[in-house]
Amino acid sequence: MDDIQKLLEAKRAAARLGGGQRRIDAQHKKGKLTARERLELLFDQNSFEEWDMFVQHRCVDFGMDEQHIPGDGVVTGYGTINGRLAFAYSQDFTVFGGALSEAHAEKICKVMDQAMKVGAPVIGLNDSGGARIQEGVASLGGYAEVFQRNVLASGVIPQISLIMGPSAGGAVYSPAMTDFIFMVKDSSYMFVTGPEVVKTVTHEEVTAEELGGASTHTSRSGVADLAFENDVEALLMLRRFFNYLPLSNREKPPIRPSGDPAGRVDESLDTLVPSNPNQPYDIKELITKMVDDGDFFELQPEYAKNIVIGFARMEGATVGIVANQPLVLAGCLDIKSSIKAARFVRFCDAFHIPVVTLVDVPGFMPGTSQEYGGIIKHGAKLLYAYAEATVPKITVITRKAYGGAYDVMASKHLRGDVNFAWPNAEIAVMGAKGAVEIIFREDKGDPEKLAASEAEYKRRFANPFVAAERGYIDDVIQPHETRQRICRSLKMLKDKKLENPWRKHGNIPL
Ligand code: HXC
Repeated sequence: MDDIQKLLEAKRAAARLGGGQRRIDAQHKKGKLTARERLELLFDQNSFEEWDMFVQHRCVDFGMDEQHIPGDGVVTGYGTINGRLAFAYSQDFTVFGGALSEAHAEKICKVMDQAMKVGAPVIGLNDSGGARIQEGVASLGGYAEVFQRNVLASGVIPQISLIMGPSAGGAVYSPAMTDFIFMVKDSSYMFVTGPEVVKTVTHEEVTAEELGGASTHTSRSGVADLAFENDVEALLMLRRFFNYLPLSNREKPPIRPSGDPAGRVDESLDTLVPSNPNQPYDIKELITKMVDDGDFFELQPEYAKNIVIGFARMEGATVGIVANQPLVLAGCLDIKSSIKAARFVRFCDAFHIPVVTLVDVPGFMPGTSQEYGGIIKHGAKLLYAYAEATVPKITVITRKAYGGAYDVMASKHLRGDVNFAWPNAEIAVMGAKGAVEIIFREDKGDPEKLAASEAEYKRRFANPFVAAERGYIDDVIQPHETRQRICRSLKMLKDKKLENPWRKHGNIPL
């Protein structure tokens, strides 16, 4: 081996060692993998091409001129996941705590720019102490360069963040602008200001885990989509998740052939909805019985449980599922569930993923906390998202579709392509009892008369046929044939073309 080759090998070995064996051991001791070990698990074997292994920071302050570690705390490049191209950056906590310098940011920006040019997703594995404190504003500028790219890439290429360590301060805003955030339980946290600052400013005593750990963000704040037990599980699930997505907005999601027949009927669905309209049932049972191989990748399962969202496949093609969940708050729409579903519908729309909506909704949640919290504005987000979506939209009303919530949940009037109802569906302004109490207020003292009016209202409106007579429902279908009818509809809609009028951008109620 001549000298130059030896030098190259020595330089590579130094870069691979990151912050040194002692810090690698410390990382392992915390149950965390190193930046490179994570990339090895994420990408197909030997497919990862590393870039900028020799990049170094340019800081000379606070003794930094004597501390240079090649790569500067982030490993960047591209590879394949199940044979499909993806770009990634993986922050190396063993190098200056993964803190972001100007050079570190430039490396991230380089892969983001390239991903945009070729049309492939960017995956960020975040494990960082935030802005490189020694660099000051150069580091802040670096963050903003990343943020700008996050925004320009939004809706063009999928962006996924996996939080595998600290993510604090303004640094959280890059993941926040990506499409999905996954976290690792017990070893990751995200907050804008840490427990010390919180204590000083608000006198609250809170641990980092309570403030911004995985369970906080998957169940209370809704910032994160899912949490996994450890690095290995998170990375393997990310590989699975990746298979649902297209590489960019220039193409459709991949097809994964399935042996599950499109015509499969499921008789058990005929008894899924209880005869008592006030009795709940689990909408996830319908989802798993309807989709290919019962395989449903649910997102945000612990947050706003009154609506269920996630990806599945039908005849091998990715669909986004949005479903009211009668088990929680009777499936009412509230602020959190509206926001949760709206963002998901917009992702699907941006990336050619048809939306299948399962409706059993008694309306919007009443109450001062909802009104003061802005349910008008936040509920409008879901309405807006459905109304602007041009992807195939298929809706099945399984039971209640009352009031404004009927309109919002991908109704025919919001350009629903195929709108089905099950035979026992009730499509009305509100439930019979409430309706009668308003329109026959003068009969308040006469319970018999009221009961008769309620029965009449039910007979007239507690069915899908009034809507079907107007063409708002394309067909009333048997529950057992739901999969078959949706598969057929999706096939019919495969080449759907619909464009919204030109505009710079709409003004969604934020
Ligand atoms: C430079 C940093 C660093 C940082 C950590 N290190 N954070 N170096 N800039 N921001 C270094 C440490 O000096 C240490 O170096 C090594 O990384 C590991 O850190 P430890 O503290 O030993 O690790 P641990 O105990 O696990 O604690 C991790 C930590 C803590 C909680 C992240 O290091 C910490 O609080 N760091 C400061 C966080 C912070 O305030 N960042 C700025 C936030 S504001 P050695 O040589 O000992 O291994 C921000 C603004 C962004 O980010 C704005 C964007 C618009």
